[in-house]
Amino acid sequence: MKSQQESNNHLSTKWHEWLDQLAIQDFVFVDNFISDELFRNIQDYFKSLREKGKFSRAAISSSEKRQIQSSVRGDFIYWLDKEVDNELEELFKTLDELADKLRQYLLISIGDYECHFALYPPKTRYEKHVDQFKGKNNRLISVLIYLNENWQPGDGGELKIHQTNGNELLIQPIAKRLVMFKSDTVEHEVMTTHTPRKSLSGWLLHKPASLGIF
Ligand code: OGA
Ligand code: MN
Repeated sequence: MKSQQESNNHLSTKWHEWLDQLAIQDFVFVDNFISDELFRNIQDYFKSLREKGKFSRAAISSSEKRQIQSSVRGDFIYWLDKEVDNELEELFKTLDELADKLRQYLLISIGDYECHFALYPPKTRYEKHVDQFKGKNNRLISVLIYLNENWQPGDGGELKIHQTNGNELLIQPIAKRLVMFKSDTVEHEVMTTHTPRKSLSGWLLHKPASLGIF
């Protein structure tokens, strides 16, 4: 059996590798990032929110110019709140830990994070964009956790990352996969999905979201 020390070292090596990749390539993805137990917990809560009709159409661009244009972005979202969504305590702990690792390894100043669930019905997509809105610089790192069990090639809804060297990378939105990328520079899009596509989208922020000044 591994000692606690050994397994901690193993874990920190992993974080080291992941965050090195993030620093070098501006993005990283990690499979089986969350446990089966946490995955089930998130799935159940996602389902209960849908049954209660809590999702609404996502808006595009910043708050002054809220527009809903389904050709640009077709998802329905639910913003998560630590104070309200108590059943997701484990998820918030995981995201807190993630923010801590980024502070520790990449020495970036993260004040807070914001996140929502997203549901893309069949035939919807999200056009190419970056996550940092013009004139605002609060979003530092984008974080995605996919929730699609039994996702198959042909189901669509891949994340396409446009690299600065012109390469395009397709990432399949398979359950328990984590993706992180730099919010200000990495252009990306969600390809048209053919099955309902579920995810958690989050952003590590420089300043607390509640200040609302960025
Ligand atoms: C977003 C986004 C990508 C994805 O919500 O801004 O780009 O793969 N999501 O869900
Ligand atoms: Mn995005």
